[in-house]
Amino acid sequence: MENLKTNAVTALPLDTIGTIAITEIPIEDKKNAKQMAERILAANKHLQSVYEKSGAMHGEYRVWKLRHLAGKKSTKTTYRESDCLFELDVAKVYFSPRLAFERNRIAAQVQTGEKVLALFAGVGPFPIIIAKKLKTQRKSAEIIANELNPIAVKYMQQNITLNKVGEIVAVNKGDAKKLLKQKKKWANRIITPLPHTAYKFLPQIIDATAVGGVVHLYGFGEHRNEKTKKKTNPFTALEKKIKVECRKKKRKCKIIFKRVVRPYSPFSVQVVIDFIVK
Ligand SMILES: C[S@@+](CC[C@H](N)C(=O)[O-])C[C@H]1O[C@@H](n2cnc3c(N)ncnc32)[C@H](O)[C@@H]1O
Repeated sequence: MENLKTNAVTALPLDTIGTIAITEIPIEDKKNAKQMAERILAANKHLQSVYEKSGAMHGEYRVWKLRHLAGKKSTKTTYRESDCLFELDVAKVYFSPRLAFERNRIAAQVQTGEKVLALFAGVGPFPIIIAKKLKTQRKSAEIIANELNPIAVKYMQQNITLNKVGEIVAVNKGDAKKLLKQKKKWANRIITPLPHTAYKFLPQIIDATAVGGVVHLYGFGEHRNEKTKKKTNPFTALEKKIKVECRKKKRKCKIIFKRVVRPYSPFSVQVVIDFIVK
């Protein structure tokens, strides 16, 4: 299984994407980093390379800065999820195996004939997994997959061909805001996996949602107050933003689902809120 693991050999946090392991080394272990990486390779025969996150995720394209530790010096790999294959370069595009549950959760909801905007699509995991599931069930939909990073767009086009879903997924290259403005009341479903800033697109997202359409909005929320250390509701701030923006647009909204996607920092978690726009 390819997801977040605490590696049994070194006890380091480890994401594996295809044949590449990406780890985080605490400062006190930095001098032993290469030996630890060699042990990870020795214990996991399917892995070919180990890289370390050497800086925060950066830029608009949300890409990790990586340092090579052991094995083959290549950041290109093929990742498998939900019977789909994804080719990618982990140093040039964003990709997280930790969103697999979300991709399946949403794929299970898409109905035949839906018009879907898969924004911030990266190398295409959300739209391609949805399309493959529909195709397997002999259903169809119209999915537009939007992405800003030109390298991710190239991989997404490759992955659409690789997974034979070109009749369901069309790629749109560029800023999501531009696409949203062209799609007034078009979408039955909008997916927004850009948790840092997706809320800033809310006015255009609401405009692009058809009456009765569903929005899956990703964000971050505080689950414990940093000063008082008291528990807080991680959904409150994002829920408020949704309600305020819908009111400004004179559209009614109904929150139908919310969940914590994953822990993010000692005081915050990544969340998703699904809401219907009426
Ligand atoms: C957190 S990643 C999610 C990628 C993918 N959905 C996944 O699950 O692996 C967010 C993506 O949004 C893209 N992005 C950032 N700003 C954007 C914008 N204004 N319009 C379109 N895409 C954007 C980034 O390049 C990045 O690939």
